[in-house]
Amino acid sequence: MGQLPPSSQDLPYIQTFKWLFYPTQFFEENAQKYGDVFSINIGPTFRPQVHVSNPQLIEQIFAVEPYKFQSASKFAIGLLGKESLVAIDGERHRSQKKLLTPPFHGDRLRSYADTIAQIVQQQTSSWKEGGKVNLPSVMKEISFKAIAKTVFGLTDSDRSQQIESLLLARNTPTANLLQGIALAFPPSRGLIKKSPQWHQAKARAEARDRLIYEEIADKRAQANGSDILSLMISAEDENGRKMEDIELRDELMTLLFAGKETTAIALSWLLWWVKSDRARAALAGRSIEQQLLAELSQIDASDYLGLTRLPYLNAVCLETLRIYPAPMSCFNRIPQQDYNLGGFVIPAGVPIFPAIYLTHHREDLYPDPKAFRPERFLERQYAPHEYLPFGGGNRRCLGMAFALLEMKIVLATMLRAWNLELSEPRTLKPKREGLLLKCPDYDIVPKSRN
Ligand code: HEM
Repeated sequence: MGQLPPSSQDLPYIQTFKWLFYPTQFFEENAQKYGDVFSINIGPTFRPQVHVSNPQLIEQIFAVEPYKFQSASKFAIGLLGKESLVAIDGERHRSQKKLLTPPFHGDRLRSYADTIAQIVQQQTSSWKEGGKVNLPSVMKEISFKAIAKTVFGLTDSDRSQQIESLLLARNTPTANLLQGIALAFPPSRGLIKKSPQWHQAKARAEARDRLIYEEIADKRAQANGSDILSLMISAEDENGRKMEDIELRDELMTLLFAGKETTAIALSWLLWWVKSDRARAALAGRSIEQQLLAELSQIDASDYLGLTRLPYLNAVCLETLRIYPAPMSCFNRIPQQDYNLGGFVIPAGVPIFPAIYLTHHREDLYPDPKAFRPERFLERQYAPHEYLPFGGGNRRCLGMAFALLEMKIVLATMLRAWNLELSEPRTLKPKREGLLLKCPDYDIVPKSRN
């Protein structure tokens, strides 16, 4: 028989309320009361789930043979398709991930640097001296365009433009609500599928998929593109098998879904932390921005890869992802048999979440954890189970190197060209939206440095 770790004594509805409206405080309160392994019960299922912020236990979880845990998401099937990397497990997941990994690493990655820098220049070229700019919306545009161009290989063609606008088209709030209910409560689907909102969203998704399949067919015929879709088309697994159209479509949607919001959030926080550093600058004599600019002056402005060798820039990016990681937890790992975790026996079927936010806020790992202090990453090395903004083990984020490169290019390009000021000094608190911890809106006022 399994034995669950200590659990919050609040009624499940109260726990759900706290998780929805005060997510960071809810987790911190539980960690304070029950330690670094605890269980909670939140909606819509109210079944127990275990959260772990003990680095040794996270190391143990990341090292477990993948087949002992089920970690594929059933929600992903409805959202992204049954071939999506996040919807598959075991051997299929291993071999699909192996196929998808090379386009995100090494020389391939380098070839996307120029594209990302061009996108930043285009997005900022309309900025007016002294005008107000909502920075998180600019970062959303940049992160979307970076994936559209490097992953989908979209260009200025009519079809590319149509795909872009269909990918960006937002469902109405009612359609989103209905979709959420249908995903969370499968019995409601029959009724929801009769609604006009459902039909409109479905027609849009069908039009988008039709165009994506046309794009895939064209790229198959050309067979020489350098975008990630073209690389996925030509990749072969150990048995010489290539990806089918449906797999390509589902993976494209997965990369967009997994990469767009997470990167936009990281970019928004990155600039905010750099610009809200007044108190520290007064104490240390040199602000984070001044230190960054001094470091950037050591390399040529067009040497985007040189950015990956700058230690302080790297530390600023890592600290941004530490303090408010967009996903507060990794994907769940569901043991197939009762599973021993630090003296508790987690019953088979109970999801276990490596807790990113809580681990990143442990005083013993990160002294003064609420302070933004990039230097901590220059003073010591953190192990993958101590610092895990991109998760770990067999599920570790596919886009990690891509996202870090993008953060460095965006920050360097903006700081070099613009003197940006926050429009008002204030404290920003992250807010939960879906499963992510978001950066609220804020404005900056750009002044050209030239
Ligand atoms: C700062 C930006 C990003 C953050 C913080 C982030 C974070 C994460 C995390 C925490 C996971 C779950 C890992 C686990 O459970 O162990 C994940 C998975 C994943 N991410 Fe990212 N991610 C980011 C950007 C991207 C980008 C740009 C892409 C691709 C374009 C991407 C593609 C994926 C995919 C495909 C998975 C699923 C991997 C699998 O199932 O094996 N991510 N990411």
